[in-house]
Amino acid sequence: MYDAAIQYLQIRVSGRPEVAVVLGSGLGGFADQLADRVEVPYRGIPGWPQSTAAGHEGKLTFGKLGERLVAVMSGRAHLYEGYSPAQVVYGIRVLGKLGVRGLVLTNAAGGINLSYEPGSLVLISDHINLQGANPLVGPNDDSLGPRFPDMTDAYSQRYRMIAREVAARLGLHLKEGVYAAVLGPSYETPAEIRYLRTIGADMVGMSTAAECIAANHMGIQVLGLSCITNLAAGLRTGKVSHEEVLETGARIQATLRRFLTELIPQLEV
Ligand code: HPA
Repeated sequence: MYDAAIQYLQIRVSGRPEVAVVLGSGLGGFADQLADRVEVPYRGIPGWPQSTAAGHEGKLTFGKLGERLVAVMSGRAHLYEGYSPAQVVYGIRVLGKLGVRGLVLTNAAGGINLSYEPGSLVLISDHINLQGANPLVGPNDDSLGPRFPDMTDAYSQRYRMIAREVAARLGLHLKEGVYAAVLGPSYETPAEIRYLRTIGADMVGMSTAAECIAANHMGIQVLGLSCITNLAAGLRTGKVSHEEVLETGARIQATLRRFLTELIPQLEV
C-alpha cells in the first residue's frame, strides 16, 4: 500500500531521514533552513493526499540539518477536508517506513489556558482526541505496529525534556499543555471552549492527534508544538478567523524556525 510512494521517494532522495517535521497552518518557512535540499511536491507522490487548506503548501522537503537528514512536510491533510483518517496519516506512515524514528508535529491552536497569549509557543504534553476518528480503526496492519498501542508517552517525555533545554538555551519562553483535537472546520462555540477547559484542555486545534497516534503505533517518538494563534472563542472580543490564525502564525514563524533548527539535531532517534 505504501510501496509505490516509498519507491518514488527513494529514487529522488539518497539516505535515510531520521526525523520528520510537519509544519502547520501558516508555519512554513522552516524547510528553507535545510542544506542540500530536495523538494518533492505532494502531487507527484503516489497515494499522497493534497492539502487544500489555505496556508498549506503541499510539498515534502528532504535536507540536512548538521549531519542529520530531515524530512519536512509543508502542509498536511485534515479530517475536515474530507480525508479519511488513513489518508490523514498516510505521509507519517510512508516516512516511518522510510526510516523516520522521531517526529515533530507543529500546529496552530486556539488558546484556552488563560496564561496563553497569541504568539505563545506551547509544548504539547498530551492530547484529548475528540475528532471521533482514529487512524487505527479497521484491520490492524501488523507491519506497522500492534493492535492496541499504548499512549502513555504519546508525546515523548525524553523529547520534551530536550525541547525545554533547547528553549532555555535560546531564551525562549516555552509553555506546556494539553491539546484538544476537534474535527472542525467550524471554530468552537464559547460553551464548547468552557467544556474543553473543564475536561483539562489548554489549547484546541483540528490536527495532530491522528498523526500522533499513527506515529506511536509505529514506535516513532513524537514531539508536539502548538503555536497559539488566537484566544479561543468566548475568551476574546470579536470573532475567531482563519486570517488571524495565519497572521499570528506568520509572526511566530521566525521563532519557530530558530527553535526547530536547534532542536532537531538534538533529538535522539
Ligand atoms: N480552534 C480550533 N482550531 C484552531 C484555532 C481555534 O481557535 N486556532 C487555530 N486552530
